[in-house]
This record gives sequence, C-alpha cells and structure tokens, in this order.
Amino acid sequence: MAQCNVVILISGSGSNLQALIDQSKTAEYTIASVISNNADAYGLQRATRAGIPTLVIDHRDFADRKEFDLALQEAIDAINPNLLVLAGFMRILGADFVSHFSGRILNIHPSLLPKFQGTRTHERALEAGEKEHGASVHFVTEDLDGGPVIAQERIKVRADDTADSLQRRVLQKEHLLYPKVVKWFAGGRLAMRDGQAWLDNNPLPATGVPAS
Ligand code: GRF
Repeated sequence: MAQCNVVILISGSGSNLQALIDQSKTAEYTIASVISNNADAYGLQRATRAGIPTLVIDHRDFADRKEFDLALQEAIDAINPNLLVLAGFMRILGADFVSHFSGRILNIHPSLLPKFQGTRTHERALEAGEKEHGASVHFVTEDLDGGPVIAQERIKVRADDTADSLQRRVLQKEHLLYPKVVKWFAGGRLAMRDGQAWLDNNPLPATGVPAS
C-alpha cells in the first residue's frame, strides 16, 4: 500500500493522538487531518503544533445525530482518507456513518474487551475485582465497543490501585498499542472481513492478539 492517509477524530486531551503523531515520523501513515467535535479539545493544539490541519465540527450545531454524522462524513470524504482513527472521540456514530466507512474505522477502548464496554471502565474493573486490566483496539461496527478486537495490552491490577492509577497505567499502554495497530493497517497487513479482524491473512481470536 502507498502512504496511508489517516483522519483522526478526537474530543479531548489527545494523548493517543500525540503518540500517533510521534510515531508517524517514521511510519507509513500520514495524518491528513484531525477533526474534533469540541473546539476546546487540547488535542487540536497538539495537531496544530505538529503542522496538521484541524477542523471543528461541533455536534451542538446540528439538529440531531443524523445531521451531525452526515456533516462529519462529508468533511471526511472531502479528505478521502484510507483510515479513520477514533482517539478519545466521545460521540456515538450512527449505522449509516459506520457502514459508509466500514472496515476503515479503528477505536481504542480502555478495557480488555469484551469486558467493560461503555464508560467508567477503570472503576468497574476495580469493582469487579479484576486481576488484569488493559486496553483494546478494535474495528468499529454498529455495535458500540463491540466490533472485532484487533489487539490488546494488559496490566496487572495492584492491591492499592485506584481508578486514576489504573487510567494512568492503561493510557501508557494505549500509547504503545495504537500506533502499532495503525502501522499494521497502513502496511496492508490488517483488514476486517466477514465481521472478523484479520492480520497477515489469519483470522484473529475474539480478544485479538497481544500487541507485545
Ligand atoms: C483513552 O482512554 C481512550 O481509550 C478512550 O478515551 C481516552 C482518550 O484519551 N477512548 P486521549 O484523549 O487520547 O488522551
């Protein structure tokens, strides 16, 4: 595959975006644009610092989710990327949007999917007495946090862990995990076929592959 053009969607701090920016210097992907639904997202400043074009499409400017999704879709189509990367993007994308970009959207989620889909993952992992926790990268489908998992990074939960300490350690792992998976996609090694993730022409198990 020639250079892979990536659009990254964010809503907040963008520390995963930063990891992807840092790795892009030596990788086969180019970040064509960073789009945020929130004008105050710190990630926009990170992108600007790196010389990456940014765009704000505020969901509050639209009557409903369908209209927001459509505006987002049109803005992305105008850039014509090979891959869409959700990095702390806090809006749910509708079925039409997801099927338009099917097989070309990745998300990172702070839990060992299929455990703890949705929010408050670190609190819930502690409440459940988990011994291990972590992060997953998956293809995005209509099924929220339920698309096929590509890879996971794990940490051991310590007796004195809090939601904050877990979040910090999981985030460090995310920063290693996400660029690695984006590079797999950019290198033509990764695909979604028949609702399953494939790496190097092998179907991946339900929890993906360990990334390290
Ligand atoms: C990360 O924990 C990611 O797993 C989740 O949102 C958070 C984004 O953090 N989807 P950041 O904006 O990349 O710092």
